[in-house]
Amino acid sequence: MDWQPLIAAARIAREHAYAPYSGFAVGAALQTDSGEIFSGCNLENRSYGMTICAERSAVAQAVTAGHRRFEAVVVVADSAPPARPCGLCLDTLAEFNPEIRVLLCNLEGEREELRLTDLLPQPFRFSPGSS
Ligand code: THU
Repeated sequence: MDWQPLIAAARIAREHAYAPYSGFAVGAALQTDSGEIFSGCNLENRSYGMTICAERSAVAQAVTAGHRRFEAVVVVADSAPPARPCGLCLDTLAEFNPEIRVLLCNLEGEREELRLTDLLPQPFRFSPGSS
């Protein structure tokens, strides 16, 4: 797997982060099964709970463009060790691919490669209408 294009896209997206409250900029980039890349950054709000994380921003970009099959996601932040996605983002990624490949990176080039199953081994599931 060539992670470089995804890392580059996530780093560029991170530069566009709107994070005036936390000061913690995050970038994410998703690769679709057709090889396309969609990126996102975190977007905060004065009403803190409205924050959109970088990963969910990237998923929204991809889904809006008609893509739902994702093979890999890269997350870049300035933290050591590399930051892990929050629970909302884990569930959002699991909605589309519970086994998606995940690469967590920081600005120093430190990397941690995982599967979503490592971070969220037993995601929430339900069968609509089965109550
Ligand atoms: N953040 C993300 O963008 N992704 C995550 O998975 C965790 C947290 C953002 C949200 C907020 O803008 C900042 O990091 C601090 O929590």
